[in-house]
Amino acid sequence: MISLKNQIILITGASSGIGNACAKIFAREGAKLILAARRLERLQQLANTLSKEFSVEIHLLQLDVRDRIAVEFAISNLPSAWSKIDILINNAGLSRGLDKLHEGDFQNWEEMIDTNIKGLLYLTRYVVPGMVSRGRGHIVNLGSIAGHQTYPGGNVYCATKAAVKAISEGLKQDLLGTPIRVTSVDPGMVETEFSDVRFHGDSERADKVYQGVTPLTPDDVADVIFFCVTRSPHVNINEVILMPVDQASATLVNRRT
Ligand SMILES: NC(=O)c1ccc[n+]([C@@H]2O[C@H](COP(=O)([O-])OP(=O)(O)OC[C@H]3O[C@@H](n4cnc5c(N)ncnc54)[C@H](OP(=O)(O)O)[C@@H]3O)[C@@H](O)[C@H]2O)c1
Repeated sequence: MISLKNQIILITGASSGIGNACAKIFAREGAKLILAARRLERLQQLANTLSKEFSVEIHLLQLDVRDRIAVEFAISNLPSAWSKIDILINNAGLSRGLDKLHEGDFQNWEEMIDTNIKGLLYLTRYVVPGMVSRGRGHIVNLGSIAGHQTYPGGNVYCATKAAVKAISEGLKQDLLGTPIRVTSVDPGMVETEFSDVRFHGDSERADKVYQGVTPLTPDDVADVIFFCVTRSPHVNINEVILMPVDQASATLVNRRT
């Protein structure tokens, strides 16, 4: 197991859910954190809590990953003490709607494609060259079981996560010959703000997603990510699929109510 002490870890989507849980677990291990998201206030609150609890160094980036120029600016203007990123957690992502494809909403599609695919690509494209030139680094992409199995109404979201799977595999191949590692962490049902966002704030509908089941928690996923990034340097965990015991596939869920 390798130590994360003083390693610089950039987490996108750190203002909520899995990204937030990753920030906590890495702070506990003494990493230096770059936390990115659009909601700066949330990041500030998290940074205050983590600095008090773990005396950790944190750099905040208010960033919309869909904005390529903003991503380029943010990465190329990092203060020199923060510019040598060791680990990139490409976590920012969302689903929008659960409509049939032929009735789908164009804006929902664009938001998912721009965030989950293009945003992840932009971060990767601007961060990884530094890793290559320094000869060290690890990229963790948040995929999903949705990238392995398409479910009714999941169409475009599932397509974006299938793209993440292909991008992770492609990046691993393209980095062969370097010491840089690539991992895709692909969870099933995790209780976060994900369903609230999917249903545009309809929390009653969102709550039903988790009704009668024990879903994964963001900490469960962060724990797996922590495992992946702390293996011996010659070990690459390519892909992890994890789901709650109450789930057997994208559509098979054991509900007790
Ligand atoms: N929850 C699940 O069941 C589940 C299952 C499999 C995979 N995943 C994946 O896990 C990742 C994290 O999701 P979560 O469940 O933790 O959901 P969440 O609680 O809604 O968190 C999503 C995070 O992504 C950020 N984000 C969204 N759009 C962004 C943008 N344009 N620019 C920058 N940041 C953006 C949000 O921050 P701001 O809104 O502040 O920008 C937020 O911090 C996503 O990639 C999701 O697809 C989730």
